Amino acid sequence: MKEEKKDSTNQNTFPQHGTPWEDIRQDLHELKKLDVDWMNHPLPGYVYYFGEEIKDNQLEAYNIYSAENGLGAGIAFLSLEKMLNDIYDWARDLYHGPETMGMTFTSGGTESLFEAIRTARNRSRARGTTGRLNLVIPYTAHPAIDKAAQIMEIDVVRVPVDAEFRADVDAMAAAINAQTFLILGSAVCYPYGVYDPIGKLGELALERDIWLHVDGCWGGFINPFAKQLGYPVPEWDLEVPGVMSLSADLHKFAFSTKGASLMLQRYQENKDRYETFSINDWPCGTYETPAFQGSSGAGSIASAWAMIRFLANEGYLKTAKAAMDATVQLTDGVNAIKGLRDVRDGAPVEGNSMAFRSIDPEVDIMAVADVLDANGWHCSRMREPRAIKHSVTPHHLSGVEKFLKDAAAAVEKVRRMGLKGEYDERTY
Ligand SMILES: Cc1ncc(COP(=O)(O)O)c(C=O)c1O
Repeated sequence: MKEEKKDSTNQNTFPQHGTPWEDIRQDLHELKKLDVDWMNHPLPGYVYYFGEEIKDNQLEAYNIYSAENGLGAGIAFLSLEKMLNDIYDWARDLYHGPETMGMTFTSGGTESLFEAIRTARNRSRARGTTGRLNLVIPYTAHPAIDKAAQIMEIDVVRVPVDAEFRADVDAMAAAINAQTFLILGSAVCYPYGVYDPIGKLGELALERDIWLHVDGCWGGFINPFAKQLGYPVPEWDLEVPGVMSLSADLHKFAFSTKGASLMLQRYQENKDRYETFSINDWPCGTYETPAFQGSSGAGSIASAWAMIRFLANEGYLKTAKAAMDATVQLTDGVNAIKGLRDVRDGAPVEGNSMAFRSIDPEVDIMAVADVLDANGWHCSRMREPRAIKHSVTPHHLSGVEKFLKDAAAAVEKVRRMGLKGEYDERTY
């Protein structure tokens, strides 16, 4: 059954007459009341917020370019091309890109991964591979890879990770066969927030002459700054020989509005030959796009460009510090609650992602999640191991204390009442 309508539209047919804007605005605010109150209960992995100034500025930049279209960058909109060129220079500096580097501005992590796989697949085909191809990835890699593979009819071989949840390079090497055209490592991986050994994966890629993609969608705008803050950040970007492409999301920790990510690759030539889509077999002449999208939000480009300038290195040091501090505090905090343990068992925090499980048979972690949810939180539930996961953002820092207090109370309640919860398969 359809949910009862919560706004004032109260109609199931296409609207015939316009609604006064004031009513619509009210409806929007009213509708929001259905949602998790993320301002007071920071959410895992959906919302990237760090104060009103950042929110207002990212939005203003977007609005200034809300009518333009990324499809016309460099054609009708030379300003967008200029912004993209600036973002290119900044990204090349940040990620140690060579002079040959190519860049594609995409709509998000999913599209960046799709583009990396598509480029590598097309190159592999141009080199003469036939038959069904496959890619070999650690078990912890993001499911957007499987989505891309499904669309392009590619097999995905997920290889178990080692005891620290990192890519097992030997096992990945053993999984590679003649049909493998791409391997991947994450920096950091979404489930556990650890770095895959990108250096070793780079060696493997060079040895086997296979494309290596680094998924920095989560870590792209945390890692360089966490390193400056003193966290042990291994080499993970285009500095590593063998890395052919790298994805880094702008709409996460670069604080652009949503719909913004980067797909960087070592050689512009590969972008030109294997990524750029061009066709002229239709009435209007050549139609050419850099990536999957046709029309795209120019506002996202403007917002990314503006936010990198606005926050810059000093600003991202603050946002990364908040995210990393929150992760450390959450980890230490749950480990201090009797019956809970972080899933990495006290290993030093590497990235801004953490999860915790129950080590007390009397405490069902899913029941803890239920109690927390009932108290206004939204717990992301993890399967292996059964755990509650936090994809930690800078905004989490404001909620750590309250969360830990509520978590301790929830554990107590579950233990006292013998509550049992249900695992929900849906991750996000
Ligand atoms: C490591 C990693 N890769 C890819 C993605 C997908 O990004 P998006 O949701 O922007 O498509 C995410 C999202 O959290 C991620 O953490």
